[in-house]
Amino acid sequence: MGKSSKDKRDAYYRLAKEQGWRARSAFKLLQLDEEFDLFSNVTRVVDLCAAPGSWSQVLSRVLIKGEKFGRAAWQDRDARFRQQMLGLFGSQHTASKSGHSEPQPSITSSPRQDVKIVSIDLQPISPLPGIVTLRADITHPATVPLLLKALDPEYDSKTNTQQAAHPVDLVLSDGAPDVTGLHDLDIYVQSQLLFAALNLALCVLKPGGKFVAKIFRGKNVDVLYAQLKIFFEKVHVAKPRSSRASSVEAFIVCLNFQPPKGFSASLEEPLGVGFRLSRMTEQSCAALPITANTILQNPETGAWNNTPALVAIPDNDGITEIQLEDHRPGHGDVRWIAPFIACGDLSAFDSDASYRLPPDHVSLDPVQPPTAPPYKRALEMRKAFGGAYGKTSKD
Ligand SMILES: C[S@@+](CC[C@H](N)C(=O)[O-])C[C@H]1O[C@@H](n2cnc3c(N)ncnc32)[C@H](O)[C@@H]1O
Repeated sequence: MGKSSKDKRDAYYRLAKEQGWRARSAFKLLQLDEEFDLFSNVTRVVDLCAAPGSWSQVLSRVLIKGEKFGRAAWQDRDARFRQQMLGLFGSQHTASKSGHSEPQPSITSSPRQDVKIVSIDLQPISPLPGIVTLRADITHPATVPLLLKALDPEYDSKTNTQQAAHPVDLVLSDGAPDVTGLHDLDIYVQSQLLFAALNLALCVLKPGGKFVAKIFRGKNVDVLYAQLKIFFEKVHVAKPRSSRASSVEAFIVCLNFQPPKGFSASLEEPLGVGFRLSRMTEQSCAALPITANTILQNPETGAWNNTPALVAIPDNDGITEIQLEDHRPGHGDVRWIAPFIACGDLSAFDSDASYRLPPDHVSLDPVQPPTAPPYKRALEMRKAFGGAYGKTSKD
């Protein structure tokens, strides 16, 4: 990113360098975790499309080193403060009453046991302690055995199936193609990456597992939502505060993996190719309760109301899910409004705002410059020709 670009002023870009993250994307994952508690009870993770590795860094620091960020860190600080206050009073009250103080919950961060993290990207990922990195294409079938072998060294592709023997708790995918600027094409390529990530997730996730993937919000988000609802109890579309509001980027957060009875992931018939997924979506939608017929059809005239009904289903986690149902003849498709959640503390930096830098601000170099960027050759050629197309050469 050029030094004169808008990113120079982006608060999260600067903050990432200050805090040692390889990319500002780290904040997106931290804010998603803050909203959905992604890392609770998680020890085995697959990070797809992971280069340069800021999400893997987050995983390494939270799971391997046991560090806390965001809400967890705030709760930790709060607990420590309360403990200090109790300590102050304890010396006067508790100890004098009972002779000993009550045991307090541990507030020190502790690394988790048996953590396994596998990160994959087309680009090389500079090593991260404790993380297995693979250079592979997630859309290629040959990547599945590679991943299964990385997760379980005993895995033998000749004898074993395409399911992980030791499945994982969480699959992440921050995959993005090089955008062309042609909106429909970019959304299509992004959706292919999403299907590839979903196919891999279906091979390695354990029941109850979680899947998070980047999407570009297009007009078919409702279809995607209905498709993912086949496999997961809860599906949300989330927009972290560090993701620019001006960008169509969002994240699909799928919780509680519940594969349909008898379903097994198959690379011979991957989802997103052929009709397997659309058949499953039709079946799943047909099983939905019909709730809005009486609202839509006038019982006297028999005429159908033009407005489809909105059915709000309050959930016990405080999130209201809205289903849009249209039962007019010829409008059999059930269209969905995916629950949309904005994540991140409102008092945190706004990624679309510019902030005045302190007078003593020093611009830092990137934490991990790209090892083999696709534009490497172009940079070398530019240098050979004396700078930006020769304009900066001295003669
Ligand atoms: C936005 S970056 C990911 C940033 C990363 N999550 C982080 O925190 O550093 C998108 C990545 O998707 C990768 N990618 C795109 N298509 C891919 C594919 N077919 N297989 C593997 N990786 C792919 C790109 O190489 C790029 O590194």
